[in-house]
Amino acid sequence: MTTRREFLRAAGIAAGAMSVPGYGLVQLKAGYAAPRRPPALSRVNLAVIGCGTQGFVNMGSFLQDPRVQVTVVCDPVLSAGKYSYQSEKTCGRAPAKAEVDSFYKSKDCRMVADFREVLADPTIDAVLIATPDHWHAIQSVLAMKAGKHVYCQKPMSLGISEGKEMARVAKETGVTFQVGSQQRSSSEFRVAAELVINGYLGECMTCDVGLPGGNKGMYGHANSVGRDLSPVPAYFQPDGMWDMWQGPAMHWEGNKFIQGIHDPMCWRWNSRTGGGMITDWGAHHLDIMQWALGMDDSGPVAIENMKHDRDPNDAIFDWAANYSFDVVYANGFRAHVSNKFRNGLMFHGKVGDLFVSRGRLNKPAPLRKWNEKRDLTGSDKRLYRSRASHEMDFIDAIYSGGRTACPCSVGHRSITIAHMANICERLGVASLKWDPAAERFVDNADANRLAEVPHYNGWTL
Ligand SMILES: NC(=O)c1ccc[n+]([C@@H]2O[C@H](COP(=O)([O-])OP(=O)(O)OC[C@H]3O[C@@H](n4cnc5c(N)ncnc54)[C@H](O)[C@@H]3O)[C@@H](O)[C@H]2O)c1
Repeated sequence: MTTRREFLRAAGIAAGAMSVPGYGLVQLKAGYAAPRRPPALSRVNLAVIGCGTQGFVNMGSFLQDPRVQVTVVCDPVLSAGKYSYQSEKTCGRAPAKAEVDSFYKSKDCRMVADFREVLADPTIDAVLIATPDHWHAIQSVLAMKAGKHVYCQKPMSLGISEGKEMARVAKETGVTFQVGSQQRSSSEFRVAAELVINGYLGECMTCDVGLPGGNKGMYGHANSVGRDLSPVPAYFQPDGMWDMWQGPAMHWEGNKFIQGIHDPMCWRWNSRTGGGMITDWGAHHLDIMQWALGMDDSGPVAIENMKHDRDPNDAIFDWAANYSFDVVYANGFRAHVSNKFRNGLMFHGKVGDLFVSRGRLNKPAPLRKWNEKRDLTGSDKRLYRSRASHEMDFIDAIYSGGRTACPCSVGHRSITIAHMANICERLGVASLKWDPAAERFVDNADANRLAEVPHYNGWTL
């Protein structure tokens, strides 16, 4: 790969220079701004929306790509602590600007509190959306309509209706859209999926999917977890930025800040802002299952055998800590999903068991010497091959206009399964039937009602 210095020299751009003019914004008939595809030697101007735990991870990767210039960072939080898995990081827009400026050795990165300013800026080509889940749909749809390419963190939606609309708008606008389900850019998952989809495991009709459990206090946030209604922290700046954090989520009584829910990362545990571990990790492992089954454009026909320990009286931590359910496909394939299984996917084939997880691929004995370069035949399906990283794959697709590692419609189909399971949990039923063509639950008005995500406070799709 070319270095940043080589890229800039070839493009005739001074190091540290900001937005790259020269390719104009075109208006589409529908009134949306057309996405801009930069010529080979122009940089992609990227804005980071959501400068928290994962925003910093993705931003660090984008900074390393010489084809990208991070020009704006956006967060309603100016600067705050307790971020990341051990609560060890300070995040927000000020630390993000400091990191970008230090990388580029300049002072040019702009800080913005309201993401709508980012979307109105015609010099921005692409956005990374790394906000809590309740924001993904509205921010993505507005970004796409403004002609921005979108890297949207997983789970891409808070519910099924949002994902449908996102997929529709992605198709209509033609922007490059990649869901942050980065396991699609890791070779161990691709090789596993290629072995399954091409039948090397022999007949394979079941798999076990291990997702994490727990519904509070993970990630070292135990000290902050409680039910205290606290004054809104001063780190939401300027005034009104607490509302910008809450956005389309229903406010709590008195519009208070609840420790353990509104602290960094903790919003995952409440249904107003997240889907618990089933969507948080289902966006990874259920996505790989769909890939391996060749079901990217479709999905299962039922959730069955749902068991969970959700406490219906707990309004705050309102997802189950322990759960298990089956995902059933029309051809009879059945996945058992549980927080009791080892994290990853275990495919049970006639040839043997294949286990894949991050950094680990255990092939069954007869396939131990299997080598993709030598053993994949000309007629075998070859799945998306990442060049280096999920972030680079996104930038590649912006230049080429080609398919991303995890397009919007594909991420939508994967996360739909997790939403289906969560709806089972919410309704307290053991099973639900699903029509993947119509994308509706069969004969269940309550489930279809829960598939529609309500938006509050004037925000709408
Ligand atoms: N791909 C992965 O492996 C992976 C890992 C962790 C998190 N994630 C995803 O990344 C997203 C963020 O999670 P996190 O753990 O970083 O959360 P976090 O709480 O650490 O960070 C979220 C940040 O978004 C900011 N934010 C809230 N509203 C905003 C708005 N309107 N505009 C701009 N910024 C806003 C918050 O202030 C916070 O700084 C989630 O969707 C999560 O599922 C993905």
